[in-house]
Order: sequence, then structure tokens, then C-alpha cells
Amino acid sequence: MRDIWNDLQNHHSHIKDRPIVDLFDVDGTRFSHFSTNAVDMVLDYSKTNMDGTARGLLFDLMRQTGVEAKRDAMFAGEKINDTEGRAVLHTALRNLAGVPIVLDGADVMPSVLQTLEDMKLFSSAVRDGTLTGVAGKPFTDVVNIGIGGSDLGPVMATAAMSPYHDGPRTHFVSNVDGADIHDTLKGLNPETTLLIIASKTFTTIETMANAQTATDWMKSALSVDDISDHLVALSTAADKTAAFGVKPERVFGFEDWVGGRYSVWGPIGLSLMLAIGGDDFVQFLQGAHEMDTHFKTAPMEQNMPMALAMVGVWHSNICGYATRAVLPYEQRLTRLPAYLQQLDMESNGKGVAMNGVDLPRDSGPIVWGEPGTNGQHAFYQLIHQGTRVIPCEFMVAQSGHEPDLAHQHELLQANCLAQSEALMLGRSVNEARALMAATDLTGDELERQARHRVFKGSRPSTTLIYPKLTPYTLGAIIALYEHRVFVEGVIWGLNSFDQWGVELGKVLATEMQGYVSGADAPDGKDGSTLGLLAALKP
Ligand code: F6P
Repeated sequence: MRDIWNDLQNHHSHIKDRPIVDLFDVDGTRFSHFSTNAVDMVLDYSKTNMDGTARGLLFDLMRQTGVEAKRDAMFAGEKINDTEGRAVLHTALRNLAGVPIVLDGADVMPSVLQTLEDMKLFSSAVRDGTLTGVAGKPFTDVVNIGIGGSDLGPVMATAAMSPYHDGPRTHFVSNVDGADIHDTLKGLNPETTLLIIASKTFTTIETMANAQTATDWMKSALSVDDISDHLVALSTAADKTAAFGVKPERVFGFEDWVGGRYSVWGPIGLSLMLAIGGDDFVQFLQGAHEMDTHFKTAPMEQNMPMALAMVGVWHSNICGYATRAVLPYEQRLTRLPAYLQQLDMESNGKGVAMNGVDLPRDSGPIVWGEPGTNGQHAFYQLIHQGTRVIPCEFMVAQSGHEPDLAHQHELLQANCLAQSEALMLGRSVNEARALMAATDLTGDELERQARHRVFKGSRPSTTLIYPKLTPYTLGAIIALYEHRVFVEGVIWGLNSFDQWGVELGKVLATEMQGYVSGADAPDGKDGSTLGLLAALKP
């Protein structure tokens, strides 16, 4: 079989020192060739050193690794998560037209759409005050208790959608650190608080501990034993939710073919729906569905998730850049980097291929980031002048939500574009010398000072431009990243849909609890752990 990885490495060895900006001299229409449009968005990847040859090889790599066939298998409900024997059908949750998807001989869509209707009915009744707590008062506050995929999706999307909030206030508790639940509950009135226990498995220690604390708080504050009017569960485990005291009609279920980090589109998104309402939530699903359709039907050359995946593989495996920064110029996307960390790193942070052998090359990169412009005054120094190259993924809206602050939105856009330009162009030593020549400095001191002001440039970035951060656009952005992660996982030959890497820590934490409390003797533990256990004693 042709070794395309080798071809890519060979090509890269010839072009790696070519300044990115030179590519625009070679091809005056580079922007139109190295950008792609989908769902009213533009993804520019012309500010990378990928050229036509590299991209052609990356297309070949996608063909050789069967990206399109695996994509079709995912949408069709085949059990592509084969270490867990599950289908991967989060896309069904936004298949609003109900086009049948048959799994094990049955169409999954009727139950998906029924659950969406149930969520809408429930959320309307909470929002209009028809449903009340035990004291007969409408709910003013909702606390979503969950972690990982049962927290990050709704927490990210709820912050992003703040201009659409017209429902109860939403709060999120995830950390097992008692400070999280304590500080959240402290300002709330139990009579008007709805507790949502969000856990696919309903066994996650952090969530169950916080749920117990919250229900104890409510029972004691309301002086009642039955607080089921204040409880909702979002889970695949109906038996466990019943044992916890949640009424069956307050359980919004989903199936094991929805992975935790892909679950915001269904019941796990209930807190978002309560905040913005059913219609806007449907818009969120619709935007994601449009991106699904694009991903399924657009040819490789125009396919936005595939373009983003190609850039990812090029930077990570061929250029050897270990991390990528996600930099939304949109304050309301403040939790997007954290959300994408789970989506990307839990999906593609794997070392073994589907067939069980070690991967021959690196898999998922380290994902991190922070909204601009804040990051500019923190870590961009390293991005511009540090010794490591960090590919940046910028994103910014055509317009903001505050028409009276349009001038600030222009400043935001200007900063975003200025950063990608500065990264690409840099500043040469001659330019730096000219800058210094305007000062009183001369000779060696001028030279020394000039060198500190040199930017090597040729630092790659992509930029995503979207119309406005509406529910529809947010859905499309998230689906874009989901599919990017999927394509990269296929190219690397791994299973993006399991997460065995989080299991060992969970098992050891349960065991460690006995040692920390003093109930068990930590015999046979390693010296460091024994030392730390001793150091924890006040
Ligand atoms: O962190 C591991 C994980 O299994 C994630 O994949 C998941 O999103 C999270 O825990 C929460 O799990 P659950 O929804 O079952 O509580």
C-alpha cells in the first residue's frame, strides 16, 4: 500500500522553511482556494503552509483511510464504537425531519422525537410557572448537577446563548469539591429551585455526591421528605433514577449510542432549553443538522469539517506541533475551549488503533485556549515569540448582539484579524532595526534591542467567520468540531467514541477514599502515595 504519510513528510521536508506569506505571491487567489463555506460560515485556512500538493496528499490519506465510508457508517447507525459495541448516533438527536435511522431492526427516530417533545412540554411548564415546587411557587432557578459531557455542553451553550435567556436562572455544579455545590446553593431559595441530575450512567461519583448534598439541603430546608417535585434526571439508567427518588415522568432518557461528550443535543441539553426555550433549542439542533448535511454531502474539496481535520493532521503529525489553541473572539464562548478539550482530547487522546496495536504516530494534540482579546494580554506572547509553534484557531462573528456597541465589535474583529496577520507576517530583524533607529539607540544596544522585537512569523492559523452567535450558528459550530474530531480519529485509525483512559483513576479514587478517611490501611502503596497520605493529615 502506498505510504502517504511518508509522501507528506517528504513534501514537508522540502517546503517547511518557506514563509507562509510567499504562498500568496505564488497564488493570488489563495484565499478562495484555501477557504471553504458552509452553513453561512467561512473557514479560512490559507494562513497555513499547506499547499496544493500537501492538500492533495491529505485528500489521498482521507480516501485511503476510508473517511467517507466511515462517515456514512456513523450516520447509518453501524456500531462503529466497536470497543463498546455501540452505534454513534448523536446526529439522530438533530435529525428533526425524522428520516428513519434503523438500529438493530428498529427506527430510533420516533423515540428521539418523542423525547424532544417531552422536553419541550416540560420546559414550557417550568418556564410559564405551571409546574411548581412543593410550596406552590414557580421555579426561578435551575441547578444542573453533572460532570464532563453532562456538564460542559450545557454550561458552554448556556453561557454562549445568554442573549436568548428568558427562562429561570441556570447554575451548574460539577466538581466534587464541596465548595462548588456549597457556593451555588448558598444563594438559592429551595422553594423555587429545580435540581437536574444529569448523568448518563447515574453512577459518576462526583455527580452522585453533589446530588446527595443538594437533595439533603432541600429536604432539610423545606422540612419535607419528598422533594420529587424539585427533581429531574437526565440519564440512560431508569432503574437508578427511580432508586434515587426521581418520578418516572421526570426522567428524560437517552440511549447508549449517545456518547457523553456528544450529548448536549438531547436530554442533557435540558438546562439550556429551560434557559432559552424550546424554539431556540430547536434552532440549535437545526444548525447542527445543517452542518451534518454539509458533512455528509459536500465533496472533500469543499467539506469544512474535512478541511479542519486536514489542517489538524498536517499541523500535528507532519509539522510536529503538539498543541492547538482555540481562540474565540466572542466572550460568550468563554467555555468553548473547555468544551472542545473534552470533545477532542477524550475522543482522540488514544494510543491504540482499532485493531489493538499501538498507533504508529501521534494522535490527538493538546487543545487549549481562551477568548480573545483577553488571551492577547496573557499567553499570546509565547504564541508570537516563543520557541514552540502553536497553530491557532481563531473565530469571530460578522456582528455582535449589541447594536449600540458596534464600535466595540469592530475593535474585536480588528484584534482578531491583526493577530492572525501578525502571526503570519512577523517582523524581520531589518524592520525591528528600523523601528529602533527612530529612538536614541545606536550600535550594539540598538542591535540588542532590535533582536528582542523580532517576530519570526510564518506561524499558522485558521479563522472561522460566522454571521452572529445565534442558537443556529452555535449548533453549526459545535457540529463542525464534532465532525472534525471524527475525521481526525478515522485518519489516525482509532476509536473516537470510547474513553477507557478515565477508568483507572476512577477505580483508584474509590480505593483511595478508604485510605484518606483512615478506614483502610494503605499497605503496599508506593512511597510517594504513602508520603502524601501522611502529609494530608492536618
Ligand atoms: O469523564 C469520563 C466520563 O465518562 C465522560 O465521558 C462523561 O461525559 C462523564 O464521565 C460523565 O459521565 P456520566 O454522564 O455518566 O455521569
